[in-house]
Amino acid sequence: MSIIGRIVNMFSSTAQRTGMGEDDSFVVSNQMKESARALAAEGIVLLRNNGVLPITKDNKVAVFGRTQYNYFCVGYGSGGDVNAPYKASFTDGLRESEIIKINKSLEKIYMEWCKKNVPDEGFWGHWPYCFEEMPLTDEVVKEARKTSDTAFIVIGRAAGEDREQKLEPDSFYLNKGELNMLDKVTSVFQKVVLILDVGNIIDFEAIASFEDKVSAIVLAPLGGMESGYALCDVLSGKVNPSGRLADTIALKYQSYPSSGNFGNRKYNNYEEDIFVGYRYFESFAKDEVLFPFGFGLSYTRFSINATVKPEAQGAVISATVKNTGERAGKEVVQVYVKAPMGKLIKPHLELKAFAKTKLLEVGEEEKLQLYIDEYSMSSYDDEGVTDNIACWVLEEGDYEFFIGKNSRDIISLGKIHFDKKVTSKCHTACPPKEKLTVLKSYEKLSANPEDFTYKWCYGTKPPILGYLKDRIIRELPKEITTLKKNITYNDVKEGRATIDDLVASLSNEELDMLCHGHYKMNSPLGVKGNAGALGGISESLKNKGIPVAIPTDGPSGLRLCEKASLLPSGMAIACSWNEKLTEYIYSLIAEEMKEKGSDILLAPGMNIHRNHLCGRNFEYFSEDPLLSGKMASAVVRGIQSKGSSACPKHFACNNQERARKINDSRVSERALREIYLKGFEICVKESDPKCIMVSYNKINGVYSYHNYDLCTVILRKEWGYKHLVITDWWTKKGKNPDFKGVDDNAYRVRAQADVLMPGGNRLGKYDGTTLKSLKKGGLTRAELQRSAKNVIAFLLEIGK
Ligand code: BGC
Repeated sequence: MSIIGRIVNMFSSTAQRTGMGEDDSFVVSNQMKESARALAAEGIVLLRNNGVLPITKDNKVAVFGRTQYNYFCVGYGSGGDVNAPYKASFTDGLRESEIIKINKSLEKIYMEWCKKNVPDEGFWGHWPYCFEEMPLTDEVVKEARKTSDTAFIVIGRAAGEDREQKLEPDSFYLNKGELNMLDKVTSVFQKVVLILDVGNIIDFEAIASFEDKVSAIVLAPLGGMESGYALCDVLSGKVNPSGRLADTIALKYQSYPSSGNFGNRKYNNYEEDIFVGYRYFESFAKDEVLFPFGFGLSYTRFSINATVKPEAQGAVISATVKNTGERAGKEVVQVYVKAPMGKLIKPHLELKAFAKTKLLEVGEEEKLQLYIDEYSMSSYDDEGVTDNIACWVLEEGDYEFFIGKNSRDIISLGKIHFDKKVTSKCHTACPPKEKLTVLKSYEKLSANPEDFTYKWCYGTKPPILGYLKDRIIRELPKEITTLKKNITYNDVKEGRATIDDLVASLSNEELDMLCHGHYKMNSPLGVKGNAGALGGISESLKNKGIPVAIPTDGPSGLRLCEKASLLPSGMAIACSWNEKLTEYIYSLIAEEMKEKGSDILLAPGMNIHRNHLCGRNFEYFSEDPLLSGKMASAVVRGIQSKGSSACPKHFACNNQERARKINDSRVSERALREIYLKGFEICVKESDPKCIMVSYNKINGVYSYHNYDLCTVILRKEWGYKHLVITDWWTKKGKNPDFKGVDDNAYRVRAQADVLMPGGNRLGKYDGTTLKSLKKGGLTRAELQRSAKNVIAFLLEIGK
């Protein structure tokens, strides 16, 4: 590693918890190995197959591309930095496979070259997107063809935290070496399988230009420690592919609706509004799609027979899935709804329910029932165009239900008429503070009312200003005063006193201590390599028996000095569409948490894939909020099954890594609620995470950790969240525009982002702005108590 690298690392969060590589006796259990392999395999998406897959024992395969050996199993940064006991590369998988026979001479050429050309692993924020490709000559390819009938080409990419994918060869685009490899191999081999070992969707234009010369395309999202084995399982047919895309793949980057408004330093206008991913493509740009959202092939075939019926406040879809092919396999049933175009513009269709079948043997059937309620089919009216401002409105009309194999390949099940209904009343919250131009009106291109051929038009969302101060004052909590003295944590635990009693007995200094973490990562109060500590972090709190809780990163496993299981990435998990298996694997992680001393796993990462360049897309799930919310719920249920806490992050709109600590996501309230918050809402309501991490970025001008509307109004009042909110690690300062002298951490506590993490600045110093504000009559003691109560309640909930 270069000198600059070493220096940068000293200040990075990695360095603050280092000791990586220390040996320990950790042995991955067989259950974990098997389920990590199964989940990674279920996350693999077969995009094309002109009959070349699965590979049989009769094939002889020539494997091209250095990535076979230098395989990417995970992305970069806190979300992937697990000290894995092993990372199975494709080479490892091929060596283990009893079915895939490879060309050994070619393997030798690659191994020798890779060993001579060891890649530089880079340093924080400067990790390699890919490794230099071995220059390939015609002779090598022709020689390989003499004894092999099939070629595999492996191309790899990774990005990460503070490491956005870039619109450059080596990153989003294929580089010369890779194009040369594709060119040479496809000119000599008739059977070519392209394997993409990636954490982000990359460019497909160059790939598409090879047309059918590439016989099969396999998207293998970063699969964790079992990556290479899982890939071989799918290629050899040991596992029938059942992964489905969690994102749309379009031909060009410029086709994606956010491409004009991504990557800016100060702010990005979310002009595409609710039209993210397939919501945009299926409504306005069908022809630009190469592989639709939800797409994925299998080695078998399925028939799906389904009906839809109205049911109390919603609809029920009954589906029978039958394996009509020649191999056992799993199918993903996807239900899309086309809402009537009313006063609020609607996407052509939206995913409203899905289910994955069990492994169906040849000829076997499974019956599934999926329920969709009226609330989830409603739209959010942020401007009152339906006369119901700040409400979720089910607009009157016929709702058409489709059963689909993906967002394009759908069959109508019929329509159900719903009358207009307000399904939930909310509060205007986090509205744009600037005039925002968004895709919001439409111009019909056809007279047919059923026809959704609409032209997209922009309109403006007017700013809403000046409502927040009164709201906060109206809702200020009352100070808790009780006369009980000398209360301890145990008194509360054992029922002799209430949380209120304890909190009322604490001094302002003690309350403040509960509202920030133990200053640094790798706190001496917890296991080595932890992300910090919170709770009883001072002597006086300790004397009252208040315990500490130890968070560790996530999501791909436990980020510690000692070794820990490395799981498939969020993208792989989402592509599996398998909630049960996801929950199960995280229940195994919950056991690891108990063994190793982690109380909170900083997982799942669940921001929306707004743009394929976002460095952390590998950690996050999908462009779709339902899929994101459901997979996140599965992760949370798994983690919390043994009593510890999950911590979904980053709430909300951390949709790019560049300048994430200052960037402003300017977004309409409708898009915020329907797209960017929806996954979190589903997760909160379905799996009750005990802790949530707010993001660094601003939403419409306000940092998430200063955002009362986000942390109090939406999260707690509207969604009923009762637990802890913590900040992301090291946040920026901020002046409160509404309350003079309630700045920085006082501003945060007023918003109810309870705990500052890790609790100090980069040098480990806490700025004390809460107590200063309190003294000057800004922040109130009652507000400090409110957050301190959330901390104590949290500690009790996780059984401390
Ligand atoms: C990341 C979080 C992570 C935290 C602690 C931050 O930089 O954004 O996702 O949990 O560091 O490592």
